[in-house]
Amino acid sequence: MKASDHPGRDLVLCGPMGSGKTAVGTQLGRWLGWGFTDLDSLIVQREGSSVADLFARGEDAFRRAEADALEAWLSRRDGADPEVLALGGGTLEHGKLAEQLVERTTLVHLDAPGSVLASRLGEEARRERPLLADALEPIATLSVLRATRSAGYARSAFRIDTTRGDVPEIAVRVLRSVYDPVGGPWAAPARALDAPAADGVTVGRGSLPWERDPAGAVLWDRNLPRSHRDVVLARMRERAEMGLIEREGGESAKTPESLTAAWRELLEAGVDRDGSLWAAGGGTVTDLAGLLADTYKRGIILRLLPTTLVGQLDAALGGKNGINVDGHKNQVGTIRLPEGVHLDPLFLLTLNPVDARGGLSEAVKCGLIGDPELLDLLEERAAEATAMALPLLEEVIERAARVKLEIVARDLEERDERRKLNLGHTFGHALEAVAARRGETLPHGDAVAIGMVGAARLARRVGELEDAALPDRLEALLGRVGLPSGGVAGNDREAVSEALAKDKKRRRGENVWVLPKRAGELTLRTVPEEDVRTVLAEL
Ligand SMILES: NC(=O)c1ccc[n+]([C@@H]2O[C@H](COP(=O)([O-])OP(=O)(O)OC[C@H]3O[C@@H](n4cnc5c(N)ncnc54)[C@H](O)[C@@H]3O)[C@@H](O)[C@H]2O)c1
Repeated sequence: MKASDHPGRDLVLCGPMGSGKTAVGTQLGRWLGWGFTDLDSLIVQREGSSVADLFARGEDAFRRAEADALEAWLSRRDGADPEVLALGGGTLEHGKLAEQLVERTTLVHLDAPGSVLASRLGEEARRERPLLADALEPIATLSVLRATRSAGYARSAFRIDTTRGDVPEIAVRVLRSVYDPVGGPWAAPARALDAPAADGVTVGRGSLPWERDPAGAVLWDRNLPRSHRDVVLARMRERAEMGLIEREGGESAKTPESLTAAWRELLEAGVDRDGSLWAAGGGTVTDLAGLLADTYKRGIILRLLPTTLVGQLDAALGGKNGINVDGHKNQVGTIRLPEGVHLDPLFLLTLNPVDARGGLSEAVKCGLIGDPELLDLLEERAAEATAMALPLLEEVIERAARVKLEIVARDLEERDERRKLNLGHTFGHALEAVAARRGETLPHGDAVAIGMVGAARLARRVGELEDAALPDRLEALLGRVGLPSGGVAGNDREAVSEALAKDKKRRRGENVWVLPKRAGELTLRTVPEEDVRTVLAEL
């Protein structure tokens, strides 16, 4: 864990019962890569009896046990790894201990009106809560409890209303608030990506490194959940005088119509030739942003805030941009490096599972291309990768981005080495094309995963593979992070062969394959059609 990721403080959740402390705390622990303690469970464990039994001996007996448990927890905090702790609804009534929590931890208040708390708890759960079990009017009882304890809750760093949103969304709101670059208790400056070719690329949870741009516009992906929008878009527009252009992320953002409309929107916003465009979104939005910034008034400043894993370790790095024409991908575009790219891993917490595993496919690809240790890391900590644990994600992003940036620094125009980044794409694109013809969608990351396995087997078949264990190792790793490693059997293999013959990257009638020799070493070459067919038959 990097020193700047958080100030080493425990994160403690307080609030009335039913506000979501345990569920949200569990999710936060998983994402932060920290342990999670539920104070009620700790009390039960220490006392050897249930909360209800303790209450049966009188509320005072319970409060004493609660104070003892909290004191024990606090006493083992010094020098320990940070944790997330969920308090009981009335824990902050212990004056001295509350004082210590305020001083030593980051205290966050989860809250909701009595009616929401009551319906969230449900009848059965209410019966199990000693303070509610006999309540004739649970909503009124909860509202009174909440009001009488409000002074304690008000000592928190901030309050999150949990009325709306599911558990992950509320957990993201907590993280956006603690890492808020303006006033967040864990706000930290962005750090430069540690790589020789990473000029202008920074990393950091919630940070926003761009301070002094002239007025311009923000291009914002409308699909980004409010949990990001409420903080990040607001902070962007406070930094500089920024107009707002919105697009729905996805290929529909990358059309000539979308580009021309955006030129007009920049004109209407009065953006000058020395103005700037800040874009936040997935690869489709940053691809559009690149071409927009390169063409508007012959080029304005461009800063990218990629919000998908594919965007952070691939699309927003390396200067390629572009739009699709009549459904044909990336037909018009330029190569132009942005002035700034900031990689904020907090965005990744709201990705849907398909986009998350698509990013992991690109990460495996980067490991295979140029960082064998990245493959080891993903193998060892696959469960953290699929749980989107931030410390692991950060290491993956930084390593994968380094692989890409170093290749781009040597070959910006894709004359030679940059073609290595197409590993897995030859089979992958053919599979995507066949699926599309059937009216289906094969996610790009899934297609590349299958394509990488195909490339490794093809390397073995044509005698290029030096590490015989690589294809099996790759398949096992892809499986562990939820990606497919085969499945062409469900496809029409003839159709896949035909699609391979139409690959847009063919040269002089032949496909140039990117084949792995071993992790971190590749070769580019043509191969006999017969070998391709044999590999395809087994994929
Ligand atoms: N320029 C390059 O070098 C390069 C490299 C790789 C890919 N690409 C391009 O990138 C595009 C694919 O990028 P992508 O995979 O990011 O797809 P995308 O931009 O379509 O994003 C996927 C979906 O997730 C949504 N989304 C974005 N961020 C989110 C977040 N934080 N939380 C929840 N939802 C979020 C988007 O609105 C979209 O619906 C393709 O068009 C591809 O051609 C470009």
